[in-house]
Amino acid sequence: MFHDPLRALCEDSLERKWIWLSLIMAFLMGGVLGFYALASNIHPPSNVETIDSSRLHLTEEFAEDNLGVSSNDDGSLTVTMVAARYGFYPQRIVVPTDTRVTFRIASADVLHGVHVPNTNMTTMIVPGYVSEVTTSFPTSGEFSLLCNEYCGLGHDAMWSRLVVTEKSAGGETS
Ligand code: CUA
Repeated sequence: MFHDPLRALCEDSLERKWIWLSLIMAFLMGGVLGFYALASNIHPPSNVETIDSSRLHLTEEFAEDNLGVSSNDDGSLTVTMVAARYGFYPQRIVVPTDTRVTFRIASADVLHGVHVPNTNMTTMIVPGYVSEVTTSFPTSGEFSLLCNEYCGLGHDAMWSRLVVTEKSAGGETS
């Protein structure tokens, strides 16, 4: 007969079944997270960098004139954006396909989120921190950057445009 290792902890067989069920579910969900982290490179962003959200316009990086796409020496791009009720600025970002893109986004007011459907680009934008996500976009097209954290009455109108152009066509930068 199957020797249940939980028997030492618990006499009741129905209770042991429920403990097994919850253990199996926990390992299954952990396995799913692990699988997608390894197979699809989907994992939570982990950048910790603080900033004074009330003075973004006075910083060099997040001043209005310095927002947008800039290219780095290694060929990758950095996209600097400000999230504020109710929009992402600049409101139109153009990047080429198959290029490393690092988004650096700061909130000027409250908690926002950003999500680009059908890609692995998603992160929370917590006031006081710089959110950083590095990804690349394999397919060209027009995508929406959507806010996915409730931030006030205009939350559902908070979005901007991400245009991914074919790399061979030489992506314009704005
Ligand atoms: Cu910003 Cu919801």
